[in-house]
Amino acid sequence: MKSFTISLSHEYIQQEVTIQGWIYNIRSSGKILFVILRDGTGFIQCIVMKNAIGEELFEKIKHLSQESSVVFTGIIKEDHRSPWGYEMEVSSADIIQSVQDEYPIQLKDHGVGFLSNYRHLWVRTPTQRSILKIRAEVIQSIRDFLNQNGFVNFDSPIITGSAPEGTTSLFALDYFGENAYLSQSGQLYQEAGAMAFRRVYCFGPTFRAEKSKTRRHLTEFWMVEPEMAFCDVYESMQIQEGLTLYIIQRVLDQCTKELNILQRDTEKLKTIQGPFPRVKYGSILELLNQHQRDKKWGDDITGLDETIISQEYEQPVFITNFPKDSKPFYMKESETDPGTVLGADLMAPEGYGEIIGGSQREDDLDNLLSKIKKTGLNPETYQWYIDLRKFGSVPHSGFGMGVERMTAWMCGIDHIRETIPFPRTIERIYP
Ligand code: 4AD
Ligand code: MG
Repeated sequence: MKSFTISLSHEYIQQEVTIQGWIYNIRSSGKILFVILRDGTGFIQCIVMKNAIGEELFEKIKHLSQESSVVFTGIIKEDHRSPWGYEMEVSSADIIQSVQDEYPIQLKDHGVGFLSNYRHLWVRTPTQRSILKIRAEVIQSIRDFLNQNGFVNFDSPIITGSAPEGTTSLFALDYFGENAYLSQSGQLYQEAGAMAFRRVYCFGPTFRAEKSKTRRHLTEFWMVEPEMAFCDVYESMQIQEGLTLYIIQRVLDQCTKELNILQRDTEKLKTIQGPFPRVKYGSILELLNQHQRDKKWGDDITGLDETIISQEYEQPVFITNFPKDSKPFYMKESETDPGTVLGADLMAPEGYGEIIGGSQREDDLDNLLSKIKKTGLNPETYQWYIDLRKFGSVPHSGFGMGVERMTAWMCGIDHIRETIPFPRTIERIYP
């Protein structure tokens, strides 16, 4: 049996239904109460009349405070004047809990710091619900795209002994007396999976202990990491472009209401059609220097640089051919452009910066061994990974997309901390 929810109001016009929900706001006018109720799927205005439910219950409802939980039964009507589109004429009501304490989040503007302390309640508000709904759509569309394109979900472990993205950003833990870390990328394990299934992906939480206090960094975030055998960096970029366009389309199609609540300028998303320009790191330095950034070969591309780059292009841009010393050991060096790697980072427009990092992987045994040693990693810990170059090594590539950065771009919001239910930053592990 399908039970009624506010989101299904259009199917129940002139029918009697029951709503289980929470009080969002109450306005009273003599013998009538206008109650805005939310049930997790939407909001609706409920008309409660004294002569329909009796004086005693009427008075109780009148004094209910925000977030009290109730069950209302009544007839659903269309109401074009109301912002909610429908209303209910209440014929009977039950109070589940009458809230006694003052609700900390009022229907007025609070600062983000205050709201973050009440994140467990903040997620009930229309704006936060919209952002988190779009996040859910981003995640679902990623899975759908990959499943439709022959990728097999192949989960990487969360507790690992390896440091694919460098040893400075690891969360260490004591694993029965041995050193272990929370995963900073599932990539290396995906490379094993790609040799078994050809196309694989993992999708999981990722941990970075870097002390970055920016609007683009969390210490715990979710990353999807596809990996493809018999695939070079150029084909990988095509797949990244296809995935990005697919996510945008799905969010535009499925989240109209949420984008509207967030007042997202959707024209900016609709102009993203591909192809995404591919620009070499060297040319990016020239662009940045035109903006007085004073960059030399080998310099990092910082958050501010990313903002400049992404304001220069309307489409997302692939930056390719980074200097090899600035990138992790697993990236393959370019033969035509020595000293640079076959890696590409995808920069989103509107100042959102890097949303994808990817590369073709070093598939030659000797090159890989020398890079592992040069990086100061212990080859013994990586023996299993080195084995992959001994038994049927093939050209292969992959990439990682951060869900929170992608979601922030879709939503058009400033800071990625609102794109995950309970953000973890260097300043916050509560709630
Ligand atoms: O560029 P990154 O570090 O790449 C890797 O981890 C590769 N091993 C991926 C691969 O090739 N399989 O991270 C990939 C993406 C970034 O582009 C960004 O979107 C996101 O992960 N990301 C973060 N998101 C939030 N907070 C952080 N601290 C992030 N670090 C990376
Ligand atoms: Mg990166």
